Amino acid sequence: MPDTKTASLQFLGKQYNLPVRIGTEGEAAFDITRLREQSGVITFDEGYGNTGSCESTVTYIDGEKGILRYRGYPIEQLAEHSHFVETAYLVIYGKLPSPVERAKFSDLLTEHAAIHERMVYLFESYPRDAHPMALLGAMVNALACYYPHLATNTHFGDKDNFDEAAATLISKVRTITAMAYRMSRGLPVIYPRRTLKYCENFLHMMFSDPYDHYECPPVVSRAMNLILLLHADHEQNCSTATVRMVASSGANLFASAASGVCALWGPFHGGANQAVIEMLQAIHADGDDGTRFIAEAKLGKNRLMGFGHRIYKNYDPRAKIIGKACEELLQTLGIKDPLLDIARRLEYVALNDSYFVDRKLYPNVDFYSGIMMRAMNIPVNMFTVLFAIGRMPGWVAHWREVAMSGRPRIYRPRQIYTGSVKRDYVPIEQR
Ligand code: CMC
Repeated sequence: MPDTKTASLQFLGKQYNLPVRIGTEGEAAFDITRLREQSGVITFDEGYGNTGSCESTVTYIDGEKGILRYRGYPIEQLAEHSHFVETAYLVIYGKLPSPVERAKFSDLLTEHAAIHERMVYLFESYPRDAHPMALLGAMVNALACYYPHLATNTHFGDKDNFDEAAATLISKVRTITAMAYRMSRGLPVIYPRRTLKYCENFLHMMFSDPYDHYECPPVVSRAMNLILLLHADHEQNCSTATVRMVASSGANLFASAASGVCALWGPFHGGANQAVIEMLQAIHADGDDGTRFIAEAKLGKNRLMGFGHRIYKNYDPRAKIIGKACEELLQTLGIKDPLLDIARRLEYVALNDSYFVDRKLYPNVDFYSGIMMRAMNIPVNMFTVLFAIGRMPGWVAHWREVAMSGRPRIYRPRQIYTGSVKRDYVPIEQR
């Protein structure tokens, strides 16, 4: 019987035996935890494309097959039957809630929806045209100042306050977002309502005014739930890995989540949803049907935003769901968006072009989500903020795994130094 529990590595005449770790879905990893201690040598994997940084029970992805599951449940089933708050519970606590647990979680979110009144002054001190992601990062971090009892820096997590801290973050983040939107436009701030559900309450805080309540069409509420649910977690992506990294130092949940917001902002990651719409708008303004843009992308002059993924070498299952939902939403709302036609054309051309086919570049979650958010009147510079609201449960779940593992270990990668060898200091007059 072949030994599948150990791998061996030979270097300079010595053999090193590496244990093999197997996940519940059969993924195998060489465990190099003791390799440097035994051999003096480290491994090198820039961008971590081949490196498992942790064990996690939250999300499973098979990028070759296009599979995504939260806590074992296929994303397609959750998208069809669940909604954001229930999925948030599942992602954080590892099980589908009972009716009582779900009601309790919803009540906790409702209870923590309003933000500390003095935070208004923080918003006022920022420029009106500040990017909402910059504001979000600052405000999520500031929660540690206003709710210090939920923000203990500890290597062992504060189990007693975890539920409240998680609900505070997930609930207040939408209030912060809506407040940032209204204040940037000089509109009166709208407070959350106890009777509204998570997504309706968010859209109410965005679009109601003191005289008229925004009546959220069911199709919009469903679409918002779907967008947030599809973003709820995605295992060790750039922002989640950042959250885990920060959490590993013992930093509190708010500080760790704020670091996730910063990592998410970039256009290769969550910022891609904003970049996709800007790309589609530019193509539209140029009178191009996408053909010229694709030709330039193949020459490396630009990137087809919303395409490609480090993990998926097949259709991103979220993109399949969101592409269909996007069509349905626009149709129900009676919206004819020329950007959707361009997106469909780009997708068709790319999926039939050997450049994209050979590199296994398929649409990802960001390709169609922006068109949906546009139809819901969400401003383009807030698209990534919505990604962040959706991703909060994932960050909370991963923070919990790190902070409450009971085995605190700071994340600390090594490097191959390629700078100058030792040299002596030269006094300034001799340089
Ligand atoms: N358009 C054109 N060419 C591309 C694209 C693209 N969108 N993505 C990758 N390539 C090419 C790339 O130039 C490279 O070509 P070559 O082998 O000739 O040098 C090859 O495909 C492999 O690309 P890579 O940059 O090594 O792949 P990666 O795994 O490091 O990057 C990515 C993944 C998502 C950063 C990249 O595909 C990309 O920039 N996509 C556009 C941005 C985007 O949509 N990001 C959102 C990702 S999904 C949301 C999330 O989870 O963050």
